Amino acid sequence: MCGIVGAIGPMDYKPFLTGGLRKLDYRGYDSSGLAFWNDGKISLYRALGSVDNLASIVPDRHPGSAGIAHTRWATHGGVSVENAHPQRSWDKKVYLVHNGVIDNFEELRAWLRERDFSFRSDTDTEIIASLIAYYLSEGERPLTAIKKTMERLDGSYALAILFSGIPGLYFAKNKSPLVIGLGIERINCLASDYAPLMDVCSDFTAPEDGTYGLLTGNAVFAFRGGKNIPLSFEPRNREDYTFDLEGYPHFMLKEIAEGPKVIRHAVSANFDAKTGYLFEQSIISSLRAADEIVLLGCGSSHYAAEAGAAYLNRSGFRAVSYIASEWIHGLYPRSRKPVYVLISQSGETADLISCLDLIDGEGRSVAIVNAKDSTIARRSDHVIYIGAGLEVAVASTKSFLGQLAILMLLAGALRHDDAVPLKLLDAATSVEEVIRRKSEIDTLASECYTARDAFFVGRGMDYFASEESSLKLKEIAYVHSEAYPGGELKHGPIALIEEGVPVFAFIGNPELGKALRSNVQEMMARGAASYIVSSSSSAREGDGFVYPAVDPSFAVFPEVAFGQLLAYSLSLRRGLNVDKPRNLAKSVTVN
Ligand code: G6P
Repeated sequence: MCGIVGAIGPMDYKPFLTGGLRKLDYRGYDSSGLAFWNDGKISLYRALGSVDNLASIVPDRHPGSAGIAHTRWATHGGVSVENAHPQRSWDKKVYLVHNGVIDNFEELRAWLRERDFSFRSDTDTEIIASLIAYYLSEGERPLTAIKKTMERLDGSYALAILFSGIPGLYFAKNKSPLVIGLGIERINCLASDYAPLMDVCSDFTAPEDGTYGLLTGNAVFAFRGGKNIPLSFEPRNREDYTFDLEGYPHFMLKEIAEGPKVIRHAVSANFDAKTGYLFEQSIISSLRAADEIVLLGCGSSHYAAEAGAAYLNRSGFRAVSYIASEWIHGLYPRSRKPVYVLISQSGETADLISCLDLIDGEGRSVAIVNAKDSTIARRSDHVIYIGAGLEVAVASTKSFLGQLAILMLLAGALRHDDAVPLKLLDAATSVEEVIRRKSEIDTLASECYTARDAFFVGRGMDYFASEESSLKLKEIAYVHSEAYPGGELKHGPIALIEEGVPVFAFIGNPELGKALRSNVQEMMARGAASYIVSSSSSAREGDGFVYPAVDPSFAVFPEVAFGQLLAYSLSLRRGLNVDKPRNLAKSVTVN
């Protein structure tokens, strides 16, 4: 999703801005652009496709004493140079980059048209630039023009703004991520996350919603509602934000390989063999006191929530999981004393933040997130960090394993069950074995990479592994894939089975294996090419892939590792961009 970078002060801007955009490109984008401020004049460059395309049209050592840059993931208006950012006001007084979505932009555009404003793009962002320009034309100074514009905007935005003829790098923030960094040598910077700033900044702050202000080379001034507000800056650990493939060909493969480490870290960070569980006591007490634990997430995080809710139920606690973007519509019953667990790798997912908007103030939210100090982490009443380290590939892999491990540990802590950490350590070993046998999964991928459709099936907890594996196939390999509980196949989906359609069946629970094998037989009788992935305690002769058995509730871990590697291999075979699949973004900051 869109990413912004900006800086002010003496520096070589082209490498800083384009390098910064590359560090944000994990967010997903389809065009990019930048603008330099030099002696009051602003020069603008924009290109479709990769940041390399942008770099190729920007002169080296371009003069400038401030700059802003952007990667755009199209929302309002198609992918075109005119819709790329920076956007400018018609009079070319205001140039800005924007991450977020303005909900009332049509109404504002009509209002501006009545005042003789014209527009070059279809974007909501151009409306912001024009509104600021309108207030400037009314005689307001830049900070007041920004404040008045913010009062008119409904929606989310992180903005970096330059004014023709007026020095300074201006910013505004509401509901979209923004980090400000104090530079090492008379420069100050801002960006959508810390990564682009780590080489040039020492201390950082993430301003609250509603903040706007001004960066100069020597100072940062922040305001809320017209009042000057202090910002507190803190250092960050550089290693948490470094991108290094460490010899792997892709980040996705590196991150799958880190899965076992992430599970073990979840155990060691939250459990001590001598003293027991280490979660904050207040989290455990509020979960115990809840009449319902409501787990919310999107994408992979939603599937982790589903599996976690099932395990919590099995452990004797009432838990339900919902897709965050659906829960907000109020269709589901709300119990008297719920606790909400918000699950997110990025901690910036707008659909989940919308849930927080409804929950805020109740003192009942627990975030399970990976990205430190992200919006969801800061806004929730309690936070448990996954500690998976930076995840760069767009499709979540190691974070899913970490999220589920933490949910299972919470269930263990709630019922004083010290066996859970041991079962998780077994699961980590089993995942390691799946990864070690990647070449077998590559061979399988070579046999089915031309398939247009695929099915993943499972029963009980294994069904959740099917869902997550199926999502991976869609995201990375662009294969139409469905996940079904085994028993449900005959109620419709079986009509889709044709000669050679691959069906992947997960059996981690020997007790459920018999029924699932019958379902697979029914599919095979209609021509499906079945492939059974089973645990060593459920395996039968002829199964395609047998992984070391773990407690059946924990089989999701090795099964999902299998699904991740299968999607990875199929994606490569199909010649696709594994780390940056089309149309997807890592940090989905729009609803
Ligand atoms: C995007 C990503 C998915 C991810 C989902 C939720 O759609 O492409 O891989 O699962 O967002 O993200 P979160 O950061 O909230 O876990």
